[in-house]
Amino acid sequence: MSGAIESVLNETRVFTPPDDSAARIPDMAHYHALRKRFDDDFTGTWGELARQHIHWHKPFSSVLDDSDAPFFKWFADGEVNMSENCLDRHVHAGLGERTAIIWEGESGEVRHISYAALLADVCRAANAMRQLGIEQGDRVVIYMPMIPEAAVAMLACTRIGATHSVVFGAFSANALRERVMDAGAKLVVTADGGWRRGKVHALKPSVDAALEKGCACVEHVLVVKHGGNDVDWQQGRDVDWRQALNAQPDICQPLAVDAEHPLFILYTSGSTGSPKGIVHATGGYLLWSILTMQWVFDFRSDSDVFWCTADIGWITGHTYSVYGPLACGGTTLMYEGVPTYPDAGRLWKICADHGVTVFYTAPTAIRALIKAGDAWPKKHDLSKLRVLGTVGEPINPEAWMWYHEVIGGGRCPIVDTWWQTETGGHMISPLPFATATKPGSASFPLPGIFAEVVDLEGQAVGKGQGGLLVVTKPWPSMLRGIWGDAERYRDTYWQKFDGRYYFAGDGARKDEDGYFWIMGRVDDVLNVSGHRLGTMEIESALVSHAAVAEAAVVGRPDDIKGEAICAFVILKQQASDDLKSELRAHVALEIGPIAKPDDIRFADNLPKTRSGKIMRRLLRDIAAGREITQDISTLEDHRVIAQLQAKD
Ligand code: PRX
Repeated sequence: MSGAIESVLNETRVFTPPDDSAARIPDMAHYHALRKRFDDDFTGTWGELARQHIHWHKPFSSVLDDSDAPFFKWFADGEVNMSENCLDRHVHAGLGERTAIIWEGESGEVRHISYAALLADVCRAANAMRQLGIEQGDRVVIYMPMIPEAAVAMLACTRIGATHSVVFGAFSANALRERVMDAGAKLVVTADGGWRRGKVHALKPSVDAALEKGCACVEHVLVVKHGGNDVDWQQGRDVDWRQALNAQPDICQPLAVDAEHPLFILYTSGSTGSPKGIVHATGGYLLWSILTMQWVFDFRSDSDVFWCTADIGWITGHTYSVYGPLACGGTTLMYEGVPTYPDAGRLWKICADHGVTVFYTAPTAIRALIKAGDAWPKKHDLSKLRVLGTVGEPINPEAWMWYHEVIGGGRCPIVDTWWQTETGGHMISPLPFATATKPGSASFPLPGIFAEVVDLEGQAVGKGQGGLLVVTKPWPSMLRGIWGDAERYRDTYWQKFDGRYYFAGDGARKDEDGYFWIMGRVDDVLNVSGHRLGTMEIESALVSHAAVAEAAVVGRPDDIKGEAICAFVILKQQASDDLKSELRAHVALEIGPIAKPDDIRFADNLPKTRSGKIMRRLLRDIAAGREITQDISTLEDHRVIAQLQAKD
């Protein structure tokens, strides 16, 4: 991202936040006052907020238990139920008729689901799951398109204390199998298919393929009929969602679970090994999803229509399409299809048609829509928008400016939110009506979050300097670990600074005014269109092909996707263009289409140091077409460089 980083570093524009005295945090004085509360009484403040915002079955007496750090526990002796906080309490407050979910299908079909109707369906689904043998602590994998039933399935799991693990619908059967097995799931909830670009993208066949080999843990597959595509049916294992729900009563008492009960597992990529099952706990995650909705989006549950465009297969979809807005009792919009179907105006048409007020998306989508031209948004009435958000990757100032002017009409504040699967919710972000924004900067840590930029020794860098991004105190929505691998959790996140800090894996810089600028990953994790992919995962997928002897994968800058995937491959056989397409298809099969390399370059060897380490920095320079600055005198075979530099 060197071009983008340069433009970010030269950025000097500052935008004052709009005045809004009704905002939850209307100015910086409020922000500093809130921060000070945490400075003065860290656990007391968290405890007070948790009592204020969550409906507890049993109150907690301990706020933070750090006796076994870094295995922190929050509100540990409290008991709570997620679905009750997202549904029952709003219905009991007389809001049963308020719209919880507005859903738009790709074909234009629209559904408005009230809180009362959503609660009834969640109860039926929870009862149906119980009837299929699901009990507290069991794992349920959800592999679904963006349809309301996906949210129903998630909430139903939480109602009966089952831990869900949503797997992104575009992941392949192999990737699904790996996750189902790692989680030891007893049930898979899926759909026959979902709609993408006017066609049905089949899902059930991937589940069938995943379960064909292995996955003995899975007893049933619940199938939502949505795409209308023909699917095989395994009697005894496969169950029709609608039939199963119709047979159930619409009442199911929410099961109170410990605040630390694993709410969900969500797999994400790291720099080594297979994807990690990030575990989130119920109480702390619930609290932070509410607070960040209120602080960062200034969410007003009685008047806002909130739209986060992320798929529920990612953490953004968990926290800000489902749990955050529903826990606040507001209206969330779900859209099933792609942003450019039938044309590049689709997102803006949806905003206009449903009166979206808060809109949250990824820079990659913004960049793609900039390319499509201003005429598309100009066709639609975007005057209801009041807050805009971005997430997932650094936003280049040009894209920020376009978002601000063309989409936000120059009046909507932009919140550039930095966070991760592991953090559960926002960590560093402007507050829309308080923080003066700088295009490309996530600005300051949120109240309660103690983030720093440090050098390799863990010393905070001065203003105007760069380093590694860390979080120096635990926070309620932090990951509780990696499913089944406590040591990996400690090693990945805590070892770098001897257990003192959470290491995020990102580089960052603090400017003269103390603003944080996120510079991207410092490990071997790629960020492709806001999707996180491990280079090692793609390398493993490549070497699992019979023709491949060795592979190294690096990222290179890409104008739309942020980063593109470049693979250097050593073959066991003759190179050919056909083989390149075959390898791309093979990676799609192993992981999913999002992991397909953009460039594949064949060579006789990979550049390695005398000790045998692949020279990745050199490969990154080559992939980007940059001048090689690295000292390559230790390189055994210099001819290799010329080969690798030869383009497709
Ligand atoms: O590199 C950072 C980048 O996305 C990574 C986290 O990816 P994931 O766990 O998939 O979660 C994405 C959605 C929360 C981070 O380590 N990232 C996320 N938000 C930003 C960002 N980079 C720059 N600016 C952001 N606002």
